[in-house]
Amino acid sequence: MCGIVGYVGNKKACDVIIKQLKKVEYRGYDSVGLSVVNDGKITTIKTVGMVSEIEALVRDMTIEGICGIGHTRWATHGTPSVKNAHPHSTKRVAVVHNGIIENSAKLKDLLEMKGYSFDGETDTETIAKLLDLYYEGDPIETLQKVAQMLCGSYALGLVFFDTPDNLFALKKEASLIIGICDNEKFLSSDVNAVLEYTNKYYLLQDGEIAVIGKRNVTIFDKNNKEINKVENIADWKVDSQDKGIFSHFMNKEIFEQPWVVSNLINKNIKAGSPDFAVDGISDSYLKKFNRIHIVACGTARYAGLVGKNWIEKFARIPVEVTVASEFRYLLPILTKDTLVIFISQSGETADTLAAVRLVCGLGIATVGIVNVKGSSISREVDQVIFTEAGVEVAVASTKAYLAQLTVLFLLGLKLGFLNEKLTQDNLHLFCNELIDIPGHLKRFLAEGENKIKKIAKFCADFETIFFIGRGLDYLLAQEGALKLKEISYINAQAYAAGELKHGPISLVTSKVLAITLATQEHILEKTLSNASEVCARGGNILLIFKSGTVDIPKKFLKNSIELPHSEGGLMPFFLAVSLQLLAYHVACAKAIDVDKPRNLAKSVTVE
Ligand code: M6R
Repeated sequence: MCGIVGYVGNKKACDVIIKQLKKVEYRGYDSVGLSVVNDGKITTIKTVGMVSEIEALVRDMTIEGICGIGHTRWATHGTPSVKNAHPHSTKRVAVVHNGIIENSAKLKDLLEMKGYSFDGETDTETIAKLLDLYYEGDPIETLQKVAQMLCGSYALGLVFFDTPDNLFALKKEASLIIGICDNEKFLSSDVNAVLEYTNKYYLLQDGEIAVIGKRNVTIFDKNNKEINKVENIADWKVDSQDKGIFSHFMNKEIFEQPWVVSNLINKNIKAGSPDFAVDGISDSYLKKFNRIHIVACGTARYAGLVGKNWIEKFARIPVEVTVASEFRYLLPILTKDTLVIFISQSGETADTLAAVRLVCGLGIATVGIVNVKGSSISREVDQVIFTEAGVEVAVASTKAYLAQLTVLFLLGLKLGFLNEKLTQDNLHLFCNELIDIPGHLKRFLAEGENKIKKIAKFCADFETIFFIGRGLDYLLAQEGALKLKEISYINAQAYAAGELKHGPISLVTSKVLAITLATQEHILEKTLSNASEVCARGGNILLIFKSGTVDIPKKFLKNSIELPHSEGGLMPFFLAVSLQLLAYHVACAKAIDVDKPRNLAKSVTVE
């Protein structure tokens, strides 16, 4: 799961590639490398770690050449090490790869029989050696032959030692684009990584092979026929990635949330009612469905669970929420009246994308709720609602989640109205409550952060933290636990508060903290009883409640976070922000690289 880049033009390829690599680093930061071809020779430099490491390495080197490829890696096969870093090369060819070659073990056996030996454990090394084996001076012919031997998914960028003016590219399933300027061309895993140079690009399709020169791009289809590609124009811009006054992107992105919610309110509320016409989605389209599936991964799925709660409550339409990596193997029941909603910040998550392709292939209606414009999921679904949250850099998703909640809340209301479960007056009332959220959030962020920072210091000492709650609180508990574990490395687990006594309570000791989410008035007492059960076994409680709640036992107020008051259904907005801040400050207290926690990547582009 990796980022691929390439350059051919008039500049020094090495310099441009390093700039491009910074743009795809969100796809993996275990190792980084580049290859430049010049004068019959391929120079390859690789290192463990981030792009800044290779930048420092090449600073004192002279790497001539106007054509090259680069790669940032998230390790799948083989540890993060120099020998496993891409590009993988021989004297005659270098290759960068995103995806997984599923038959690499067999290919390796074949190559070993032919006398090749292997330095590392990656599947990609077999591609480099296969190409070396079959290369007789015609890159296209060789690529076609080797492509037929590969099973799995791949986006490949390549250089050959004797073609210093051309890059080569091909793909299956994983995405790959070619940025086009008059006298230079760029290869990239995604469109946004080339927008600094050009907004014109070709989308490579499965089976196509591209020969990329600085002036011309020639593309061959599966049958080796040259094809005319349509030039795409990106009509959006990517904001600069700057932390401003904040120490981390995550902190900045948390503080951008009032703006993110306002932005969507402005886009999707018209005359006091939800409106998706601006996204090209008509009421008559939305009215057709009597069943909804939501498919997503990680935080996006947790947004989907809250969406299910809202849609079922407002519209009384049954909603199923499924982990994308499971969805395609579950034989889901999909009828012509089913709408499948895919939620993804990046729009590139391989599991979600695979599910999109399955559902689209069956002719079932699909809507994407996506943040990144030009991303694969946004291109492949029937309809897309962009969450317009701006670039999210930190691995831990924050503002994209709140944007997803905003869209889902409005979608729930819209479906409720179309299904005659909500009146126009209901719509106005709920929309007005949502309209108040950004102001409350702004105040809460300004006034609440320092208090949460202090509480975070107390939380940071625990090795096990439970998140418990009921109803919507339980759904937020799941997101809170994910956020905390991914950036603080604390073993954080979410439980439905009522389930503790059915097993997990045996884990409770004085070393366990149960963060108790108690914002839902109608089940408050029951949640507090469950918190008391934890106390009775020597466990510790941190209570999160909404202001104005009466009858909270004093013992729970000692460690507590008070949230602004809102209608129960909208409390997820405040809960989410408080849990993000808590996770952020716990991670800071533990001196963890918050924006780039270990073993993770921002975008997960392998299944
Ligand atoms: O880009 P996506 O929304 O499809 O990503 C899905 C998950 O990988 C993502 O939400 C992940 O769980 C986050 N790191 C959580 O903060």
